[in-house]
Amino acid sequence: MDVKAIVKLTVNGQDYRVDVEPRRTLVDAIRRDCGLTGTHIGCEHGVCGACTVIVDGDPVRACLMFAVQAEGKDIRTVEGLTADNELHPVQKAFMEHHGLQCGFCTPGFLMLAVAVLERDPDIGDDALIDILSSNLCRCTGYQNIVRAVRMAAADMRERSRCRDVPENKF
Ligand code: FES
Ligand code: FES
Repeated sequence: MDVKAIVKLTVNGQDYRVDVEPRRTLVDAIRRDCGLTGTHIGCEHGVCGACTVIVDGDPVRACLMFAVQAEGKDIRTVEGLTADNELHPVQKAFMEHHGLQCGFCTPGFLMLAVAVLERDPDIGDDALIDILSSNLCRCTGYQNIVRAVRMAAADMRERSRCRDVPENKF
């Protein structure tokens, strides 16, 4: 028997009502049912990180979560990074520091980096490299990916410093 569940997913601030089998993974629901194909699927068993999205502020491998488990949570995908037609600092840094080659791993790295930097923009080099090593790049562009995330961290720190300076200070 074909058992299905109606699930409301909130992705990038928009609600999607999807009719899915309970075994449907979140990444399949995002791509096939919500039509957001920016999130990629690689290994499908939690190793490569290509499917990384942000769920309630945490980076999550969307191939290891069922869509039904994501109901009521705040899901963010690569499509939601650009605001007001402006690239996110992490996207800019990847572009400027050649953080991508074929681009297959890029959405997963971007979402991982955004989650990490939002949590700790002052993250040290060792911790950053350790976290980024959880995702795989088959083009092996790791050095530029790490460099891009470091640059994005500096940019995000600078932006938040400027926001914190009271206007009448000058
Ligand atoms: S596709 Fe999810 S970790 Fe590889
Ligand atoms: S840029 Fe090709 S897999 Fe990473």
